[in-house]
Amino acid sequence: MEFQDVVRKRKMVRSFDPERSVPRETLERIVRNATRAPSAGFSQGWGFLVLATPEERATFWEVTNRPGQEESTGSPQMHSAPAIIVPFAHKQAYLDRYAQPDKGFPPNYEARWRIPHWYVDTAYASLMMLLTVTDEELGAIFFSVRDPAPLREAFGVPEGYDPIGAIALGYAGVDQRPPPRRDERRGIDDVVHWGRW
Ligand SMILES: Cc1cc2nc3c(=O)[nH]c(=O)nc-3n(C[C@H](O)[C@H](O)[C@H](O)COP(=O)(O)O)c2cc1C
Repeated sequence: MEFQDVVRKRKMVRSFDPERSVPRETLERIVRNATRAPSAGFSQGWGFLVLATPEERATFWEVTNRPGQEESTGSPQMHSAPAIIVPFAHKQAYLDRYAQPDKGFPPNYEARWRIPHWYVDTAYASLMMLLTVTDEELGAIFFSVRDPAPLREAFGVPEGYDPIGAIALGYAGVDQRPPPRRDERRGIDDVVHWGRW
């Protein structure tokens, strides 16, 4: 697909065709492209959990929607997605990288990071995946994960990895939400400031 078409067509998809699974090679391309994202100091402080079997997906929805949670994770429609990728940010990779001689900061110097780049870079990687999904003519939704602890425990994720959200993906089903109206997107003149704000 043409790059500009990928950008234009990328829209969050919230319902999926449960009958069509995503081929393994496609999932591999999606996560491979995630690793092409830029990262501060080339720290690459990220990790991606791919859940594609019915059991893995059921466990994901179960642990992210425990009774008593303030808000549910993902809408029921999303549960039909044939694959879920959870992008995790790994702060320690940045603290270790920036303690190396070419960077020269003290070990574990978190105060250096006004903006926590482990989240920024993992978000870049997530966008790479969303764009790849569009290029594959699939659909995806990035959504918030409320409580990381049960998710980490269920899938053996080490403590230092923080899920920045999750991506449910698959072939688009009948989307029950109307697409956002075109005029809802903030205009260029509203958000772009040439030369002076
Ligand atoms: C960080 C982030 C978190 C989001 N969380 C949710 C969510 O929990 N549930 C949901 O339905 N959409 C979620 N979205 C999708 C946004 O609602 C969507 O990107 C926005 O409405 C613009 O629509 P578009 O992406 O289709 O252009 C999230 C998007 C981002 C970037």
